[in-house]
Amino acid sequence: MKLLIVKLQVHSGSSRLNAVLTETIDSIRADHSDADISLINDAQCFITCAEKGDLRNTRLLFAAELDEGGMNMDACRIIAYLYANSEKLPLKGSVCGILIDGSGQLFTKDTGRRIAFAANTAGCMLPGKPLVEATGDLFNFTTLSELWHTDTMSAYKKSVLLLMDKLLSFDKRLHLKSGIDGKPSILVIHAGNSKTSNSLCLWHMAAENISEKADIQEISIRNGQLVDCRGCKYEDCLHFGENAGCFYGGVIVEKVYPAIIDADILVLVCPNYNDSVSANIMAFINRLTAVFRAYDFSQKRIYAVIVSGYSGGDIVAQQIIGAINMNKNLILPPAFAIIETANKPGDIMKKENIKEKAAKFAAHMMNLDP
Ligand SMILES: Cc1cc2nc3c(=O)[nH]c(=O)nc-3n(C[C@H](O)[C@H](O)[C@H](O)COP(=O)(O)O)c2cc1C
Repeated sequence: MKLLIVKLQVHSGSSRLNAVLTETIDSIRADHSDADISLINDAQCFITCAEKGDLRNTRLLFAAELDEGGMNMDACRIIAYLYANSEKLPLKGSVCGILIDGSGQLFTKDTGRRIAFAANTAGCMLPGKPLVEATGDLFNFTTLSELWHTDTMSAYKKSVLLLMDKLLSFDKRLHLKSGIDGKPSILVIHAGNSKTSNSLCLWHMAAENISEKADIQEISIRNGQLVDCRGCKYEDCLHFGENAGCFYGGVIVEKVYPAIIDADILVLVCPNYNDSVSANIMAFINRLTAVFRAYDFSQKRIYAVIVSGYSGGDIVAQQIIGAINMNKNLILPPAFAIIETANKPGDIMKKENIKEKAAKFAAHMMNLDP
């Protein structure tokens, strides 16, 4: 298996990122005799490889250092290239992970999500938990270092090693969990009014194309039904989760938990509320914590239907990537979101080619081996 490491340094020479990569690449080569690992050292080289089609059907690790302001100009150039050329799908068939080495305690997650969204838009799939981030003082590795009985630097290196290993062994195909008659089972979560919601209307436009090909279950979590996560102690949360429960009962425990345990694909219907998913959807994500601790979500895929009144669909998409793919371990399939702008009720129907776009999104969801 081939692994391309896109090493984007801001400090030349012997940086921490360089040292970590040198050591982990040596270990991976020792463990995987068939691993063919090569380095791409800057944005220009990345673009040249992409133009030749060399970044398709491969495994990629974006490894970027950040300066004090959270910037990396090569990473910015790559992100710009991926959006500008997204129609050509320069990363089609590829799987990527991301390593961000920061200077301070800020910006690592933000840059990680931005790279993830750009790569995904360009056709790349991301396994669950695809990001290793190292803050300046490595404080973010404290819990892992305690768990692994080691120091924070060793925990950092081990996390990079595990990510490379995951990229090399990841199986892109969707193995159906409980789909009936070979149909994927799709769980749709929304909090919209079916008469007025643009985002729910867009989902229904997509769904009508696949109602025969998938086993679709829609659950509404509208106002008043859903209480946000209480933040129980880890042990208590785990205990509830192992019994497919949570401190609070209600729709989440009675309907959503059993449905998500059985689902192959999760679809979140997300209107943009104050440049965020709505409070109901966020409460749903937070309340997933208990069941996530006890069940493996790493073979499920996440898709999203996002509608903003004016702007900000990218922010909502990146919020979902952070919460559901990076934290909750679901796979991010290529081009995971349909993102539209429509404000007043019914405006979504007036968008040009909207039915075709919805149909394309739906067809794309049915591709079990993208
Ligand atoms: C509470 C609230 C906050 C909103 N905040 C934003 C916003 O920050 N940016 C934006 O572009 N649209 C915003 N909108 C508009 C919605 O995104 C827009 O109406 C869109 O069509 C999706 O909503 P729907 O699926 O509920 O119809 C907001 C709407 C509401 C009700």
